[in-house]
Amino acid sequence: MATREQGPSGGEGEEPPRGSIPGGEPRADGGSPAEDKRGERREFERGESGEFEFHTGANRATGLPDAIEFVGVHKSFGSNHVLQGLNMGLPEGQISMILGPSGTGKSVCIKHIVGLLYPDEGDVIVQGQSIPSLPDADLFEIRKKFGVLFQDGALFGSMNLYDNIAFPLRQHTEKGEEEIAEIVHGRMREVGLGDAGEKMPNELSGGMRKRAGFARSLVLDPEIVLFDEPDSGLDPVRTALLCELIKEVHEENGGTYVVITHDIMSARRVAEHISVLWRGRIVESGPAAELFDSENPFVRQFLSGESQGPLGME
Ligand SMILES: Nc1ncnc2c1ncn2[C@@H]1O[C@H](COP(=O)(O)OP(=O)(O)OP(=O)(O)O)[C@@H](O)[C@H]1O
Ligand SMILES: [Mg+2]
Repeated sequence: MATREQGPSGGEGEEPPRGSIPGGEPRADGGSPAEDKRGERREFERGESGEFEFHTGANRATGLPDAIEFVGVHKSFGSNHVLQGLNMGLPEGQISMILGPSGTGKSVCIKHIVGLLYPDEGDVIVQGQSIPSLPDADLFEIRKKFGVLFQDGALFGSMNLYDNIAFPLRQHTEKGEEEIAEIVHGRMREVGLGDAGEKMPNELSGGMRKRAGFARSLVLDPEIVLFDEPDSGLDPVRTALLCELIKEVHEENGGTYVVITHDIMSARRVAEHISVLWRGRIVESGPAAELFDSENPFVRQFLSGESQGPLGME
């Protein structure tokens, strides 16, 4: 995590920018490089005139301060204008979910929070500090506040589970092995992997890998835990169990949790706060119960998973 991501790289989000307007409608000009600039400008004009009709941007009050704030964030990859003036606040101490269709920029948001990507314009503020303007040394420090669970658990294939989970402690603290063992075993028990320490990642099921990634994200007692689709690739029962686990661990430890998903059932189970992201901006955000009652046609369609509504095949 010491280096910052530049352009396409490993992990998710590695697909090339699509030759389309963010949101998925085909570009009229077919997208040859000479026409990219024109396409981009047209996108923007279109954006100003109706593309965002469902984006009330309404941020319903939570009565809590924001632990994480996106302020007018723009981010493009080539002609792919992914974040289009994103304003989003994620309240301190709650489980917040960022929901949105595939390819809307949810993972890109997480990468901005941890300083792996910089905004082209605007600011990302974490506990009052502007992430893009932090010098590398301070960024390294602030990252100790974060636990991150990447989409696939991101375990080191050559290390057993115990060493994987101990890794952040060995890297970021001066703790001795005895103390490390106590923490690691505690977290492993907490996520139900009490006796799997010797196992190698390739011996584990998808659900176990996620739980191991979760245990690892917790060992530094993070103030903020970021989950990128903890439910992807899991069957419904394991998804439900993982959601329960996230809730329990949050109740036990507190902290600000940010969970990215497009699974509505997961949102119903764990979200206290929801931000619906589409076409690079917030459609609506606020306390989960209020969002599930929203009158906004896009939010209604998305949160009920209906095929009829403003959201087409994207
Ligand atoms: N490093 C990058 N270089 C170029 N394009 C990128 C990069 N990262 C993301 N993108 C593009 O940005 C857009 C948003 O990607 P992102 O991974 O954030 O989507 P997502 O909302 O997380 O989708 P999913 O639900 O499928 O995970 C996509 O069109 C993707 O191709
Ligand atoms: Mg993603």
